[in-house]
Formats: sequence, C-alpha cells, structure tokens
Amino acid sequence: MGYDVWSEGQELGAYRLSCRESPKYRLGEWRVLDDEQGAPASSLILYRLDADSAGIGSIATAPAERRRGRAAGLIAGVLESLDRQGVKHVFLFSDIAPRYYERFGFEALPVEHQRKPGSVCMVRSRFKERLLGPAFQPPAYF
Ligand SMILES: CC(C)(COP(=O)(O)OP(=O)(O)OC[C@H]1O[C@@H](n2cnc3c(N)ncnc32)[C@H](O)[C@@H]1OP(=O)(O)O)[C@@H](O)C(=O)NCCC(=O)NCCS
Repeated sequence: MGYDVWSEGQELGAYRLSCRESPKYRLGEWRVLDDEQGAPASSLILYRLDADSAGIGSIATAPAERRRGRAAGLIAGVLESLDRQGVKHVFLFSDIAPRYYERFGFEALPVEHQRKPGSVCMVRSRFKERLLGPAFQPPAYF
C-alpha cells in the first residue's frame, strides 16, 4: 500500500519480498482495515514496546482508497483497542505533516527527544508529564 512512497525505485515484486523479509516489520503485528468488499484498504503495524507502551508504524492506504477516511478509521480502531487494554502511551513517527495525527490526540515530543531527521516522534498519552520525566528515553525508530 505504501509502494509509491517507500519502494525507493524497486520493482513491485522485489519491494513485496523486502517487506515480507523485513526484520523491522516482523517485530510487529499487522492491523488491516478492509473495504466494503472485503479487500484490504488500509494497514499499519502495531509494536508492543513495553508493558505500558505501544507504537504504530508504516501506516498506509491503497492509493485508490486514499482521502476516504480509511487510515483515520483504522487508527481510531487500533487506539480504542489499546485504550481498552490499558496501554498508557502510544508512539509513532510521522513522515507526513504531524497535524494529521493531532486529531487522534498525538503530540510531537519536545525537540530534545527528536532523533530522526525527517520524522517527528509523537506520543498519545494521558500521562505525558510523568512519562517525560528525567529518565525518559524516546523509542528507537520503528
Ligand atoms: C497518509 C495516508 C496513510 C493517509 O491515508 P488515508 O486513508 O488517505 O487517510 P484519511 O482519509 O484518513 O485522511 C486523509 C488526510 O491525510 C492527510 N495526508 C495524507 N497524505 C499526507 C501528506 N503527505 N502530508 C500531510 N498530510 C497528508 C491529509 O490531511 C488528508 O486529508 P486531505 O487530503 O483532505 O487534506 C496515505 O496518504 C498513504 O498511504 N500515504 C503513503 C504512505 C505514508 O506516507 N504514510 C504515512 C507514514 S507516517
């Protein structure tokens, strides 16, 4: 679904293979939103970072399905489920304008915790002040 932005010039087959074999992708679990016909429309990868924290990454919608609220529906559903499970903090790295994620309650971490040029690390947490104490370490890029 993210072939147009993440393939770096690879053929589709080679790109798919690199996704299947990606050590990073294997650390997480896919969450997929189907369209009304049951075809995959939008997807993301969910990472369990520790007992209190999760991360979501590689959010992508099939090009023909974009701008119909597919990613928003998927993200909202995943966040609802994490809330029900008592997960306190959810992180993501935004490669697009961070304001897209602000509608779900994500906020950019302070600049001193940003590590990856071109990506903004954001967190959604009701316990942000406590989280960002002196011992806080931002998650590694996922
Ligand atoms: C970003 C993406 C997942 C959004 O999926 P979607 O199902 O179209 O999302 P929604 O319909 O919920 O929301 C659409 C909104 O996404 C935002 N958006 C999409 N691409 C964007 C970009 N490159 N920069 C900033 N905002 C963007 C816009 O606000 C857009 O609304 P608008 O077109 O009316 O301005 C999709 O465009 C995609 O797959 N892009 C390629 C992969 C990618 O860049 N993923 C993000 C990684 S952080």
